This record gives sequence, structure tokens and C-alpha cells, in this order.
Amino acid sequence: MKTTIFISRKIPEAAIGILKEAGFAVEINPEDRVLSKEELLAGCRGKDGLLCLLTDTIDREFIGQMGQLKGIAAMAVGYNNIDVAAAAEKGIPVSNTPGVLTDATADLAWALLMATGRRLPEAERYLRAGEFKSWGPMLFLGGDLRGRTLGIVGAGRIGTAVGARSRGFGMKIIYTDPEKNRILEEELGGRRVELNTLLKEADFITLHVILNEETRRLIGRPEFKLMKKTAYLINTCRGPVVDEEALVEALQSGIIAGAGLDVFEKEPHIHPALLTLPNAVLLPHIGSATIETRTRMAVMAAENLVAMMKGERPSNLVS
Ligand code: DGY
Repeated sequence: MKTTIFISRKIPEAAIGILKEAGFAVEINPEDRVLSKEELLAGCRGKDGLLCLLTDTIDREFIGQMGQLKGIAAMAVGYNNIDVAAAAEKGIPVSNTPGVLTDATADLAWALLMATGRRLPEAERYLRAGEFKSWGPMLFLGGDLRGRTLGIVGAGRIGTAVGARSRGFGMKIIYTDPEKNRILEEELGGRRVELNTLLKEADFITLHVILNEETRRLIGRPEFKLMKKTAYLINTCRGPVVDEEALVEALQSGIIAGAGLDVFEKEPHIHPALLTLPNAVLLPHIGSATIETRTRMAVMAAENLVAMMKGERPSNLVS
């Protein structure tokens, strides 16, 4: 009997090729959309392996009904959508795709930093609306980056890569992390500080933590109050790390200067007030959205799944 795999949405062909070459029978959600819980359950029923995305909720209830699975491969570095403990109880290994999306995500964090600090979307909207009548000495003034302080919350792979990109811009780095980060300190002159110090001192605060119960709403009303009025918050990790209601208040009342967001608390729902705020730059979770990166992520997920189907330890086991 052939090993059977379910893929919850269209992914790069290279990954599907790997699964087929391994001799697996592969079924893919034919529609390019997130499946409902029932549809996902139906797709996985009787299958040996699942290749899923961060938009699929793989909770205890789902796992309770899918005890036959021999492996779940997430095509994402973050796996907060999967109840890894519940899977482990059933003996189902779970894998993710770390490392391969570091540069793309760091690039996007940097793009948001530039876009907020220099008000690019606002300026572009103005031009497209036919408002650009002449160069103006006071038109869309932003702030210099040189000499400003970049505050990195979570100095893992992506946080470190964001720090490395600040080199050419002449920024100072401070960061929070349970561990000392050699690259940020020794190569980039960064300083490890407590979160409250970072919030008080940084001009740009960029979030790079994993979402768990400790980091959920890590940035809320008290934290916004510590920030400079001129500070910008950049979030490319997970939406629930920020209390979105508190963020809206902070942006509306000038507690902070602006925010660049690629992720949202109740994705894909966007807080309606955010949509009206000119000092918020909003993107539809595209941190890793380059052809090369998404291909690498899909291939890595497929390779992990092949290993799990053979009863081997995948390279990127998270459970
Ligand atoms: C991830 O892999 O966790 C990212 O959010 C996808 O872009």
C-alpha cells in the first residue's frame, strides 16, 4: 500500500515532486484557499502524512481524530497553530522549516522600517491621488536612521539578520534575548538590555519572538507607554504578540509615531481602525514571500515529511 499524503493548499511544485519521487500518493487541496476545519479533517482522513500551513489549525481535537498520522510537516518556522504536545502524546512527530526564511523575513522587517520611518505608503497615496503639485521643503518629512537606535526583541536567526542589515544605516543596536548574542554584540556593537530599557531607548522596535503563552500580548498598554513618542513598532513575527487594541490607541493618540505590521492579532481580520490610520503600514503576512524562500520552505517541509514517513527523525523536528 502506498503512503498517502495530504497537502492543505497549493505549494511550489518542487516539493510535490519530492513527495511523488518518494513513491507517495499525494492529494492536494485543489483550491487556493484555506480549508475549513471539516474540509481539513476530510482531506487528512486515512492519510499517513500531512503537509500543512500556518493557516491550518491543528489543535488537540483535530489530532484526536487523526491518530493515524505518522507525521505533520509545517511549511513555516512558526508552529503556534499546531498543538505539538497533543501530537506528541499520539506519537505524531511535527516538523517546521527554520533558517530558510531568515533573510526574506529580515528584508521585509527592514522594508517596513523604511516604509514607516520615511512614510512611503502615505507619500505614494498622495502622489497617486494627484496631490503632488511641487517639491515641498516640508513635504512628507520622516526621520534619519543614522544614529538612531534599533531595538530587537528576540535575537534569534531573524532578529540577528535584521540587526546585521542595520550596519549600512549607522544605527545603534540594543536587544533582548535570554541568551547573549555574539554577532549582535561582537560584530555589530549591540547591547543586551531588559525589555523595559529597550522600549524606553529604541527608536525602532522590531519583534522577532516565537508566539507562546509568555509572548502573547508581550506589547500592550504598559509597554506602549514606555516607548518614545517618536518610536516605530515593526512586527513581522506573530500578531498576538501585540495587543492590537492598545496599538490602535497608541497610534491614534500619538503615544508612538507609527507601526509597520506584516502580522495581525486575528489574521486575516484587521482591526478596522488600523485601516484608517495613516501612520500604520499594513502588509498581508508576506514576510517569507519570495519565490526562492517559499520554494526552500516547501522543499524542506517535503523532505521532513519523507523522513517521518520512513520512520526516521526529520532534520527539523520540533516535538
Ligand atoms: C513562518 O514561517 O512562520 C512565517 O510566518 C511564514 O511567513
